[in-house]
Amino acid sequence: MNLILFGPPGAGKGTQGQLLAEAHGLKKISTGDLLREAVRAGTQLGTEAKRFMDAGELVPDSVILGLVREYLGGDAGAGFILDGFPRTIAQAEGLDRMLAELHQPINAVLVLDVEDEILVKRLSGRRSCPNCGAVYNVYFDAPKIDGRCDRCDSELVHRVDDDASTVRRRLQVYRDQTAPLIEYYQRGRTSPVHTLDGDRSIDEVQAEIKGVLQL
Ligand code: AP5
Repeated sequence: MNLILFGPPGAGKGTQGQLLAEAHGLKKISTGDLLREAVRAGTQLGTEAKRFMDAGELVPDSVILGLVREYLGGDAGAGFILDGFPRTIAQAEGLDRMLAELHQPINAVLVLDVEDEILVKRLSGRRSCPNCGAVYNVYFDAPKIDGRCDRCDSELVHRVDDDASTVRRRLQVYRDQTAPLIEYYQRGRTSPVHTLDGDRSIDEVQAEIKGVLQL
């Protein structure tokens, strides 16, 4: 099963995608995670991407499409979950071309809907583990020991782009450049689009996703 997870910053794409991937053996491809990895590794791609990410802007389509192409090929296994990609019409068209070459369909597009006020709170409370990638929230899903990762005991960090003004810009960019993709997929009619209320507990949202996908 191949899925696209859509939603504004903080809607829970990473959280829900991770749970689904672990439960069903799907490969989660998060362009945000791949870019942060490149920034940490100090690669040329990472250096180029960092200034866009820190400003809350989108990284250029050509860079993103090249990155995704590397991860989509190979053994399809049980399928994949795209988290945070595509984000523009050009990326969606590029993805269509890649999937046609690979003879892989998108089985469903899931849209997580959450109000801005809640998103801002979630992002201000988000803490991530730079070592294993686990994500927590000081308000909604706190680690057992303050500031330390439950899984690997590393020190948790607050993402640079989660400061209030960058979050406002990311929300605007989502509305302007990414939200129109919902209509793109509705119009295409090849993959069903399901909009879910993401403003419920993590478990409730996951249960609804599984219900919709009949898993
Ligand atoms: P990316 O990393 O993709 O960020 P994003 O889309 O802004 O999404 P987030 O990771 O902020 O949120 P999420 O929806 O995954 O929420 P999460 O599960 O973590 O991209 C970062 C940057 O990289 C972009 O700004 C851009 O510059 C660049 N980029 C990436 N992809 C790109 C692309 N395709 N094209 C161009 N540029 C690209 O949850 C958030 C918090 O809420 C967590 O603390 C979590 O614990 C908590 N939470 C989750 N669910 C719930 C719940 N149900 N109830 C309470 N709390 C919850």
